[in-house]
Amino acid sequence: MLIEEFRVESASVEYAPESITSTYDYQTTELSRGSDNKWVVKPVTHQYQFRTDRKVPKLGVMLVGLGGNNGTTLLAGVLANKHGITWNTKDGLKSPNYFGSLTQASTLRVGNFEGEEVYVPFKSLLPIVEPNDIVFGGWDISGLNCADAMQRAQVLDWSLQEQLVPLMRDIIPLPGIYDPDFIAANQEDRATNVIKGSKAQQVEVVRSQIREFKERNSLDKVVVLWTANTERYSQLVEGLNDTADNLLAAIERNEAEISPSTLYAVAAAFEGVPFVNGSPQNTFVPGMIELAVQKNVLIAGDDFKSGQTKLKSVLVDFLVGAGLKPVSIVSYNHLGNNDGYNLSAPQTFRSKEISKSNVVDDMVSSNSILYKPGEHPDHVVVIKYVPYVGDSKRAMDEYTSEIFMGGKNTLVIHNTCEDSLLAAPIILDLVLLAELVTRIEMRKDDEPAFHGFHPIAVLLSYLTKAPLVPQGTPVVNALAKQRAMLENVLRACVGLAPESNMLMEFK
Ligand code: NAI
Repeated sequence: MLIEEFRVESASVEYAPESITSTYDYQTTELSRGSDNKWVVKPVTHQYQFRTDRKVPKLGVMLVGLGGNNGTTLLAGVLANKHGITWNTKDGLKSPNYFGSLTQASTLRVGNFEGEEVYVPFKSLLPIVEPNDIVFGGWDISGLNCADAMQRAQVLDWSLQEQLVPLMRDIIPLPGIYDPDFIAANQEDRATNVIKGSKAQQVEVVRSQIREFKERNSLDKVVVLWTANTERYSQLVEGLNDTADNLLAAIERNEAEISPSTLYAVAAAFEGVPFVNGSPQNTFVPGMIELAVQKNVLIAGDDFKSGQTKLKSVLVDFLVGAGLKPVSIVSYNHLGNNDGYNLSAPQTFRSKEISKSNVVDDMVSSNSILYKPGEHPDHVVVIKYVPYVGDSKRAMDEYTSEIFMGGKNTLVIHNTCEDSLLAAPIILDLVLLAELVTRIEMRKDDEPAFHGFHPIAVLLSYLTKAPLVPQGTPVVNALAKQRAMLENVLRACVGLAPESNMLMEFK
């Protein structure tokens, strides 16, 4: 049973007109070694208070790469939802939805009523922006208007596109920062809409573009998200991008090794605007991370977790959790969209290879019964560009595991799907959750004042392949754990216990 709305009634939760405040006992453990040198695990409880601002802002989202497959597919999808556009296909009449979005199309359990399990929409837990109310804008180095760019992307059914053209042809991406050294040479023909000048000047232009967008649309808040082409990795160089000061000085000197994505992120930080990186490259060089922390501006990344990697972060978690030992994981992809074309260059492919490769690390290191120290499954990722398949990406995976008594088990998975139809709802979740997270404050035990979460938004990990975390924070890739973290923290904000799945009521 689904209930659309609910209110928590508890002495530890207060719903005031401006905010929801909850007092929450967080049960965790402390580990130590006893005098006999044996490990001691001690349950401890910390008290947290969470305060969530209830005012849902008028939100603007600026996509870097607005004219790309993901950018236009998201924009088109939201407009179709907003205007209730239906369209005919050979399979019948279709209507718009937000399938694939955690916030819009998933539910969570709140309890049991007369023997029936009761669920609520994920988005009903805390006040969150409605996707149809978002104002979209952003940049693209290709100057095509969004209607033509949607047609170029070849993702959506034609009869839907036809109806969307009048709504999209006047949306023209802002000129963007282009540096041919960072993306594949094959993208050069697209780069017709670029910001001129030095790197420092480009940052200033992007800053003013953000301010103008906010002002022109009377927005309360803006989130910037990178869904532009995958860049090559930036080299990390002492004195260049290792600290915030060095990074800013390097931009002033117009140093070649500062990537466009880092320049956009710097501009966003100066405007106090969250920046999410949906591609694999290291936009967040150490100096950029330090800048975000100094300015206390949310950053999140890296690389949308949409298809093959999402499944991997479920499957390997299941195998290792079941006591089976994956020893070889081989992932082939082929795709024919512009993302695939860009990834056909070795340097940009390398960024993708890195972000796809580390995804099983936490699961492997969680089980030293199976893996000796330093032991790791063979893990290979191959991506090929095959124009004919367009956006309909093929991913083929082979997982070989060692099982009972020397046996072997091989699983083979073939995944075919329009890549952008998986990515667009994830982009939506990232911006909606990034905004929500900035409205939550907390206070632990006897801390005197409320403060926000750490600017590196670990809570968004569910949506990214290579979650960015503050130094010293464990990286969690397992999908179920990532979802549980997000769900349970949001539950805590309204005074609900984490979902323990114990079902003691029925024992
Ligand atoms: P796309 O190539 O169709 O779109 C990227 C757009 O960015 C293009 O229109 C390009 O002109 C523009 N662009 C490139 N550099 C720019 C810059 N410096 N400033 C402004 N605009 C710039 O690619 P698609 O399919 O939309 O993917 C976008 C990104 O998302 C890629 O990096 C891809 O690896 C990443 N991604 C996509 C996933 C998916 O589609 N399922 C999953 C994970 C990541």
